[in-house]
Amino acid sequence: MNLPAVSKEHSAEELTALAKQTLVANDRGGYTVPTAGLYPFQWNWDAGVTALGWMTFDQQRAWDEFHSLLRGQWQSGAQEGLIPHIIFHQNADSYFPGPDQWGCEADGSVRNIPTTSICQPPLHATMIRAMLDMGADPAITEKNLKPIVQGLVKHHRWWYRCRDPFDTGLVFSSHPWESGMDNSPAWDAPLANVPRTTRAYTRKDLGHVDSSMRPTQEFYDRVVYLMDFNRSVAFDPIRIAKESPYRVNDICIISILNRASHSLAGLCDQLGLMDAAIFLRARCAMTAAAISQLWSEKLGQYVSRNAITGELLQAPTHAGFLTWYGRLVEPSRDAQQQATLLAWLSETPYALPSTRSSYPGFEPARYWRGPIWQHLTTLIAEGLDRCGHTELGKRLHQSTAALFAKSGFYEYYHPLTGAGLGGGSFSWTAATYLFWNYLHDHQLHLQDLRAA
Ligand code: SER
Repeated sequence: MNLPAVSKEHSAEELTALAKQTLVANDRGGYTVPTAGLYPFQWNWDAGVTALGWMTFDQQRAWDEFHSLLRGQWQSGAQEGLIPHIIFHQNADSYFPGPDQWGCEADGSVRNIPTTSICQPPLHATMIRAMLDMGADPAITEKNLKPIVQGLVKHHRWWYRCRDPFDTGLVFSSHPWESGMDNSPAWDAPLANVPRTTRAYTRKDLGHVDSSMRPTQEFYDRVVYLMDFNRSVAFDPIRIAKESPYRVNDICIISILNRASHSLAGLCDQLGLMDAAIFLRARCAMTAAAISQLWSEKLGQYVSRNAITGELLQAPTHAGFLTWYGRLVEPSRDAQQQATLLAWLSETPYALPSTRSSYPGFEPARYWRGPIWQHLTTLIAEGLDRCGHTELGKRLHQSTAALFAKSGFYEYYHPLTGAGLGGGSFSWTAATYLFWNYLHDHQLHLQDLRAA
């Protein structure tokens, strides 16, 4: 898939300069904040996407993003190997819940850097496979690759050990922030079973972004409860797996983890880490054998499942389309899910909304309940492309290019107007643009990358 020209309101040169400036401005010395003010720390999955952007103009800086992330990895306790969803490299008072709220030493471990106690979709190994094919300098790669791969192997072992302790093939998430898709309508039903916290706290997000684009107070009350629950059980993974009031087989995490385990197995082959490669491929086989449980005949796509009640979460969200990226679509369901995606595409001028626009829970400006998240559209487009559905991939790609040209680099976009929403000068958005532009300039196709 070649990058189409992106020069309507902004030229490609202007966008490239703006994208690099965005990363440089958000650089805090070895790690990149998603955007100043609203998100003043290093976020887990943002770091993986952002590294791709750095790779186009400063290779060592791209690898540094991962080194910084791994400095926050838990090195002891029952959750050894966790790469938390936020690494609080330094304090900042513009965010809630900050380092004082998570109690990351509540299991008796000493941690060098304060972090949260939950995770995020582990896309890093797949990004690293892509980086290796982006003209990676062998000397720089040699210096950086092995320690990062070793950290990621520990992390993937954490996912399977702590989030699928009963070997079902389908990991669970224990918090809506862990899915990355915070207030997705898919979480409405499982979150309704989580009590609202009664303790006082002060949100900071509403000082940066209008409340119409952010989650509700009720959502915050429940997610704060879950944060406190984790600490109250001293992060015991078995207690979380049996007692947490929120456990979801999240199709986004399952797809991204599966793809990244394939990628990581390839990296392990390269480095001679054969035990890890065998382990990862065995877990991928277990997931492939279990994925049919997450098919919704009603919606014609894969969905998440409430792991406590066993109910499928029948909200039509874009997460299901990540199964192409995750290498998990069963051949017998491929055509039906393509038809579903085509129907979605006919309903909004810009692609791909996070919730189907005909769904009653669709809110086009509110965070994960409707807006377009371009990095997700990119992953879905890549998955489609790789599975041979190149026309569909191209449509997603062209729509994203149009959003960049029209609105620049925002956190998310309005699927009906294309307006930028949420935080501005956003790192992973700028990084995605730089990555695509790199492919275009080097006449590379996504299929050419080995990001297996
Ligand atoms: N996205 C969350 C927030 O809004 C945290 O990961 O703060």
